[in-house]
Amino acid sequence: MVTIVGISGSLRKHSFNAGLLRAAAEAAPEECTLAIESIKEIPLYNADVEETEGIPPSVSDLKDRIAAADGLLMVTPENNNSIPGVFKNAIDWLSRPPKDRPRVFGNRPIGLMGATPGGFGTAFSQYAWLPVLRVLGAQVWSGRLLWVSGAMSKFDDEGNLTDDGVMKQLSKYMSGFADFVTRMKA
Ligand SMILES: Cc1cc2nc3c(=O)[nH]c(=O)nc-3n(C[C@H](O)[C@H](O)[C@H](O)COP(=O)(O)O)c2cc1C
Repeated sequence: MVTIVGISGSLRKHSFNAGLLRAAAEAAPEECTLAIESIKEIPLYNADVEETEGIPPSVSDLKDRIAAADGLLMVTPENNNSIPGVFKNAIDWLSRPPKDRPRVFGNRPIGLMGATPGGFGTAFSQYAWLPVLRVLGAQVWSGRLLWVSGAMSKFDDEGNLTDDGVMKQLSKYMSGFADFVTRMKA
C-alpha cells in the first residue's frame, strides 16, 4: 500500500484542477490511497512573520502530512504561461525552514498534472515547476504527461471531470505514478 497526498493549485470553488484531483483519487489503483489536501488556509509568505511567529500551523500541518505520505501529486493550473502565484506561494512556505526541506521534499516522488480551458493543457506551468522541484530535491515522475486542454467541454459546471478519454488517461497515469512511488519506497 502506498499513500499519496494530492494538492490542487486553485482556490476556485468549481476549479477544473480540483475536479481533476478528485478524479485522480477515484482513478488511483487499489494499492494506493490518495488523500486530498488544500492550500487555501496558507497565508502569503512573509519572512517577518516567519522570523517572529515561526511557521504558521496550516503550513506545519501540511508539511507533516506530505512528510508522512509516500508521494505527492500536484495538480497545477497555468497563469500567464507559468505557475499560479497562490500555488508557488504555498510551496515556498512548505519549503521553510531550509533544514526541514529534506523531510518534506527530499527524494519525494512527485506527479504533475493540470487542466485548463486553453489549448496547451498547462504544459508551460508543468515545465515551470521542474526547476522549483529540482532545487527542493524532489523526484518528479516523468513516465507520463497529463495535460488536459479544452476543460470547458471535459468538466461539468461544478468542476467534475466528465470526459471518458481523460478518465482513461488518468487511470494510466495513476497506475504508473503509484508504481513509481512504490519503487521509490522500496
Ligand atoms: C491571470 C490568469 C492568467 C491565465 N493564464 C493562462 C495561461 O497562460 N494558460 C492557460 O492555459 N490558461 C490561463 N488562464 C486560464 C486558467 O487556466 C483558467 O482560469 C483555469 O480555469 C484555472 O484553473 P481552475 O479551473 O482550476 O481554477 C489564466 C487565468 C488567469 C486568471
